[in-house]
Amino acid sequence: PEIYAVVPAAGIGSRMQADRPKQYLTIAGKTILEHTLETLISHPDIHRVIIAISPSDEYFSTLPVSQAQWLTVVAGGHDRATSVQNGLAALPEQSWALVHDAARPCLSHADITTLLGVISDDTQTGGILASPVRDTMKRATKTGSGALNVSHTECRDNLWHALTPQLFNTGVLRNALVQGIAAGATITDEASAMEAQGHQVRLIEGNPANIKITRPADLPLAAFYLSEQAS
Ligand code: C5P
Repeated sequence: PEIYAVVPAAGIGSRMQADRPKQYLTIAGKTILEHTLETLISHPDIHRVIIAISPSDEYFSTLPVSQAQWLTVVAGGHDRATSVQNGLAALPEQSWALVHDAARPCLSHADITTLLGVISDDTQTGGILASPVRDTMKRATKTGSGALNVSHTECRDNLWHALTPQLFNTGVLRNALVQGIAAGATITDEASAMEAQGHQVRLIEGNPANIKITRPADLPLAAFYLSEQAS
């Protein structure tokens, strides 16, 4: 079965405090979204890219990449999971969906290739890239006045940051998202919907340079990682 990249790109990126959605900010001469899409389509195993764009988006159609033959554009939804669902609807049932945030332009081909390794293991329905937690992790509770107290320290052994891409069998992921949304779950990544349905999700250590651009300080950091990749 073929492998399709699905890129949810319909967020507004409010934490960025920019004049436009964060994927349209420029790093090293190209928008974040162009970096992301070019990395995906230039990987030899990726067949096509499906992108979810907000119906009110004014920027996407101004990019030359919006006309690319290898790209299918679908409408974004009111949350990430719905945007991903709309993307999956454009795929054949028997295929693999590699879901990747538009806001992660520093993904490497090596990480994609490592993740695609789960396909050859037929006991798995899919897997995700992740990186180990570095800091000591605290669970907080709110006091009556709204201040925060430390409740306790979580053991950080075996705690990981979930990254993207997340790779799953398309039909199985579609079902898992339908069930998760119907159950009213908050779905911030594909794996959580799969886990809730009892599917095994393989966890693969990815490069921590694959950051999700969220805050203004992430822009120079991403520029640094991209320049390292280019050299
Ligand atoms: O907001 P956050 O950084 O978690 O968004 C992760 C990804 O999901 C981004 O690429 C964003 O564009 C996308 N997204 C989407 N549709 C939404 C909300 C977020 O495609 N309604």
